Amino acid sequence: MGKAPLIVGNWKMYKTAKEARDFIIELEPFVMKCGARVMLAVPFTAISAAVEAARKSRIAIGAQNMHDAPEGAFTGEISASMLKEAGAQFVILGHSERRQYFNETNEFIQRKIKSALKNGLTPILCVGESEKERESGKTEQVLLKQFLECLNELSSEEAARTILAYEPVWAIGTGKTATPEMADQAHALLRKFYKDKWGEEVAAKCTILYGGSVKPESAEALLEMPNINGALVGGASLKVASFVQIINSSEGNYT
Ligand code: PGA
Repeated sequence: MGKAPLIVGNWKMYKTAKEARDFIIELEPFVMKCGARVMLAVPFTAISAAVEAARKSRIAIGAQNMHDAPEGAFTGEISASMLKEAGAQFVILGHSERRQYFNETNEFIQRKIKSALKNGLTPILCVGESEKERESGKTEQVLLKQFLECLNELSSEEAARTILAYEPVWAIGTGKTATPEMADQAHALLRKFYKDKWGEEVAAKCTILYGGSVKPESAEALLEMPNINGALVGGASLKVASFVQIINSSEGNYT
């Protein structure tokens, strides 16, 4: 695709502020030498410490969720402007764990995406089918519904600023990775959705990550595929060694 691959770590509910700081200090020299773009989605409480630790590096820090309202009586929630002030540059939205355990709907996710964009945060929208949906041949239909219901109201400029992550639900945290061909096929489909909605230029520019049990052993073959621009990594982003191996296996896949 001619652009540097993007490797994003999703730490989920792991790591305190101190652990985040130590991790980034250890990771930083490897990132300095690599050609990939590297981002870490850390817990809310670790954002400020992570931003401070990553200040002189090329590592971007972001969050894993937010509320769409600018402020209000929403106990326990965090707004886009709060994330921005803490130094976050991006936010993961619509992760399948949020959809599954916190009942997030496409409509709610769309509102969050718009609020993130308005506040200068890059949204990473996660989409993906369940095992049952794949087995019953509904993958395309499910992806299209999530895509349209989450992104429908965006302008082409906003769509180009939004990162998409294809994360088949059956592959998340299960050790079952989609084969590179299977993942690339879904990515090609998602790229076609971009083209149909916003045209060729946006489709060519958009970044589509693969996520779901990406490990050092599986990363290279996935990242070689023409429609895969990078990876969203959960479990394997928690240790510097495995995360660096994944970052390094994306080398050579950019110009
Ligand atoms: P996993 O998580 O790599 O542990 O499967 C990926 C994700 O949930 O983003």
